[in-house]
Amino acid sequence: MAIELRTEVPGPRSRALLEQRRRYVSGAVSEPRCGLFFERGKGARLTDVDGNVFLDLAGGIGCMNAGHGAARVLERAADQLSRLQHACFMVGGYASYVELARKLCEIAPGVKPAKAALFNSGAEAVENAVKIARRATGRTAVLAFDPGFHGRTLLALSMTSKADPYRAGFGPFAPEVYRFPIPDVLRRPRELAEDAFVERSIAELRRFLVSTVPASALACAVFEPAIGEGGFIVPPRAFLLALERICRENGVVLVADEVQTGFGRTGSLFGCELSGVVPDLVCLAKSLSGGLPLSAVVGRAALMDAPQVGGLGGTFGGNPVACAAALGAIETIERDGLVARAASLGARAAERFAAFAERFAFVGDARGAGAMRAIELVKDRETLEPDKARTERVLELAARRGVIALAAGLHGNVIRTLMPLVMTDSELDEALAVLERCLAEVA
Ligand SMILES: Cc1ncc(COP(=O)(O)O)c(C=O)c1O
Repeated sequence: MAIELRTEVPGPRSRALLEQRRRYVSGAVSEPRCGLFFERGKGARLTDVDGNVFLDLAGGIGCMNAGHGAARVLERAADQLSRLQHACFMVGGYASYVELARKLCEIAPGVKPAKAALFNSGAEAVENAVKIARRATGRTAVLAFDPGFHGRTLLALSMTSKADPYRAGFGPFAPEVYRFPIPDVLRRPRELAEDAFVERSIAELRRFLVSTVPASALACAVFEPAIGEGGFIVPPRAFLLALERICRENGVVLVADEVQTGFGRTGSLFGCELSGVVPDLVCLAKSLSGGLPLSAVVGRAALMDAPQVGGLGGTFGGNPVACAAALGAIETIERDGLVARAASLGARAAERFAAFAERFAFVGDARGAGAMRAIELVKDRETLEPDKARTERVLELAARRGVIALAAGLHGNVIRTLMPLVMTDSELDEALAVLERCLAEVA
């Protein structure tokens, strides 16, 4: 067994740190379930400050596809750190930035030749993609989708759904951002077949681009190949292909936000492979660099060169240690076959989640793509009324029993998997058995 609980959870050291945290850290930064503090990570296991070992279904919100403590990440980052920790790429170059940019241009989805620029966070990548699209098109409007998540900085937040906690009280928001609902087939009107529902939604999008913002005013459309924070909803392929067509017909830059779906999570190296949509620009972060702060925009060279010199960049963007870690993470994902591993972990989890939906009336849906799997908890299977309180109880119990998992969804009633892709079958089985016991307990 992987899980080892030596103290009650949280243990005394976590509790002491939590007390300090509450005193010195802004209360607006969410507290982890049970107030746990971690000291070490290896593979898919996390050890807390009291020596308790947990199985990790969260991966620091999807950053650890290559696993905690991946040897190539540690070696490359340590080597880089011992030689040069910072120079600012705009002041003086270093090889790891260029090597990573080249690698990303080779592997990222989209039209070649590509170029890349590096930043610090997913939100920053999204904001820079919008800047590039605006400069390249001379237009200002941005199309985004509900219930998407693109980050917490002002422009990214303006593109993000979910009033509480993300948006409430933080306006006024950036102008010229228009959000359209992704067709959610689970909640479609009963009388409509899936195909008809998606067709209707495509027609509504075309109407939206007449009634609300003309396609000719759009600089870009930004979509998640599979919606992450918004609840692991996979947009219908026909809808994304229609979006791609609209963008091509109207000179709109198509931006794939692969911050959460990238680097193997969906069972393909990038989530765009799910639909076959070819983006003009791609935003990358999270598992790009095994948890070190780094993000990228990669895309058509002509677009990437459109902004004026000095228009993109930042003091820390593409830090040498983060770039070295990213090269190690990508090498790990490629050499250790972690994309195929995501597909097989995902298939295993999907089977168990389908069984949960059969066993528990309050599990209203089981869905996802690759290792990005989710169950949705509802009060009533007919109305699909979300059950956030029960979701919270399950996740709290799971943490107390040694499994770290996360909620998602506009209503916080989705339990999602973002496990390191190095997780073994027996670790996954153990984690899901704990989850099932917790579901049984709240039944
Ligand atoms: C799809 C997507 N885009 C952007 C972001 C923002 O990334 P960051 O928190 O690094 O700014 C996230 C974070 O969860 C995300 O899932």
